[in-house]
Amino acid sequence: MAAVHPSRTDTWWRDAVIYQIYPRSFADGDGDGTGDLAGIRTHLPYLSELGVDAVWFTPWYLSPLVDGGYDVADYRAIDPAFGTLEEAEKLIAEADEFGIRVIVDIVPNHVSDQHAWFRAALEAGPGSPERERFHFRPGRGENGELPPNDWPSQFSGTTWTRVPDGEWYLHLFTPEQPDLNWSHPAVRREHEDILRFWFERGVAGVRIDSAALLTKHPDLPDFTEGVDPHPYIDQDEIHDIYRSWRAIADEYDGVFVGEVWLPDAERFARYLRPDELHTAFNFNFLSCPWDAGRLRRTIDDTLAEHAPVHAPATWVLCNHDVTRTVTRYGRTDTGFDFGTKEFGTPSDLQLGTRRARAAALLTLALPGSVYLYQGEELGLPEADIPLDRIQDPMHFRSGGTDPGRDGCRVPLPWAADEPSCGFGARTEPWLPQPADWARYAVDRQDTDPDSMLSLYRTALLLRRSTEGFGDGPLTWLPAEDGVLAFARGNGLVCVVNLSGRSIGLPPHEELLLASSPLDSDGRLPGDTAVWLRR
Ligand code: NOJ
Repeated sequence: MAAVHPSRTDTWWRDAVIYQIYPRSFADGDGDGTGDLAGIRTHLPYLSELGVDAVWFTPWYLSPLVDGGYDVADYRAIDPAFGTLEEAEKLIAEADEFGIRVIVDIVPNHVSDQHAWFRAALEAGPGSPERERFHFRPGRGENGELPPNDWPSQFSGTTWTRVPDGEWYLHLFTPEQPDLNWSHPAVRREHEDILRFWFERGVAGVRIDSAALLTKHPDLPDFTEGVDPHPYIDQDEIHDIYRSWRAIADEYDGVFVGEVWLPDAERFARYLRPDELHTAFNFNFLSCPWDAGRLRRTIDDTLAEHAPVHAPATWVLCNHDVTRTVTRYGRTDTGFDFGTKEFGTPSDLQLGTRRARAAALLTLALPGSVYLYQGEELGLPEADIPLDRIQDPMHFRSGGTDPGRDGCRVPLPWAADEPSCGFGARTEPWLPQPADWARYAVDRQDTDPDSMLSLYRTALLLRRSTEGFGDGPLTWLPAEDGVLAFARGNGLVCVVNLSGRSIGLPPHEELLLASSPLDSDGRLPGDTAVWLRR
């Protein structure tokens, strides 16, 4: 029986497949080396054919792009490198014609140091009302020469920068990203207005950046490892903000997805209470190694933590901040951890690709929504960026030890034989494409039934047209060590073999899809997943 297209229902977000677009690297419409909205608009048919229900755009607002656009100078304007507000409106409307909803990315924790509020705060000086919208403080030490507290930055180093008049301001990320003071009513009002601005323009949802960091302990006390509650992560007061946001979203049938990195399941689930956020990214799943026991535990924990608040889980393997899936799965350590990233970690890409294919079928069979990061459907590996081309502040702030996040942000290859692999750049793209990028090009994969792209297209089509996937219960089936086997509705079964040896398949009527060919005797080889119908 054909299921209703999820993007046509009002609970579409409970089991949607959402494609993440990093506009700078998706497609370059004007040829200047940076991706843009014009480029995205020409590829909407591609997204429609891929079969996604929604797209999430990482920030496209006016920005000096110090942190890839997460340093916003004006939340109501599109950066000229990407296009205009009028083009964004057209893009939202055109996507809708393809049945694709749009999610924008709001960055409430901080602004760019070029934002009008911060410039006014610098100009107005100590004690001014303009400074109250940020966290300005005098320094410690005899002459105020020491930062006001010892908070470590999310990007290594200090969280404080001193301005010429002697005061310091707080920035959890780079100095170009001053933190807003969320106990100031104007900050709350402004963001409520920004939400309305984008909902009025027809967006279906909002991704909330650094969603657990907004509120700070009013005294900004020193941070001592293990101190509870943490002075700036997951403060109880934050939920009041999201309750007021939810009321706004409900007026527009809009939905939220929060970037909530919290290992504690109970604390995480608080963000998903019925009057707060609809969904949040599942970073525990993203960080989980390719290991059947660990994956099963993560899946169980995820479902258990979401159940009491009736929120759907999300399943994410990759995004613009982390190592690309095929590279991660081809390494000895197949988990993800910001703290252990280093240059030169070897990876067996063939193995990683095989696993990533199996992981795609696993992820798409789980109950909830799925996020797919641009290029994941092409099996792109993490690229090595020459040192002199690295742009990511995470690299520089680590003192050069962390390779940074540019390796997963390289412009997409669309056409193997065209300059910049069809990305559209008439000049050098903003990040260099590796020499072998053409082999991953969309036009090479398009007609190859064994390509990663074909696997994703087939899987998304099946997921959409077959009742039993998406939202709903999951039942584990008996399986040998190293094997994940579970049933969904309507007789659907997913088996993923991580055991390293071939296994027999459970009894079934139909083999719907396999991530790699079965053995000649019909057994399921290692690092392979299948969808069956019993
Ligand atoms: C999370 C975003 O995903 C990341 O790219 C950004 O650097 C930080 N938040 C700061 O906004």
